[in-house]
Amino acid sequence: MQADLERMLFDEPAIHRRLDEIAAQISKDYRDRELTVIAVLNGSLIFIADLLRRIPLPLKLDCLSVASYHGKAKTSQEVIFKQIGLPDVADRNILLLDDILDSGHTLAAIREKLKAANPRSIRICVLLSKKKERSRQVDADYVGFEVEDEFVVGYGLDFMEQYRNLPYIGVLRRELIAQLT
Ligand code: IMP
Ligand code: MG
Repeated sequence: MQADLERMLFDEPAIHRRLDEIAAQISKDYRDRELTVIAVLNGSLIFIADLLRRIPLPLKLDCLSVASYHGKAKTSQEVIFKQIGLPDVADRNILLLDDILDSGHTLAAIREKLKAANPRSIRICVLLSKKKERSRQVDADYVGFEVEDEFVVGYGLDFMEQYRNLPYIGVLRRELIAQLT
């Protein structure tokens, strides 16, 4: 395990086993419906790559890029859309994919923005969901794992853009966060 981690939460086999289950559920739910996946980059990159290859349905993939952290370990209220054009969502069944549901601000803002473009439906899928009170009401329809309210990295999730390439998910040592924020 990487020395900056306090402890391991989910290793690669555990993540992949869970992805098999979520992918099976999504494949069942969307078997008779057009499916458009919208991935929230950068955190969901590894997750979507592994998840989508387990879904044997015709689907479209589009990506969004937002910034809500501004390089700190605390979430901010403001969500900046880094991509100017939004994907075409009118009359589509949208499945929004993100790495982690924390305060809910990011996904609430994205959902609102997409809703204005009249999709047929919107569902949310996150790899991780923090057990905490959220400032914005967002319920994910598909959740990989619930985690405590701790800062986690790996498998796409970063701290100051580091650790995304770790093949597992773990809790970042507290001293490292305290040092930099
Ligand atoms: P929210 O807007 O507070 O729900 O935050 C969502 C975004 O914050 C996620 O997409 C992540 O990029 C980031 N985030 C929240 N918690 C963590 C964490 O524990 N580790 C890494 N990134 C996190
Ligand atoms: Mg992110």
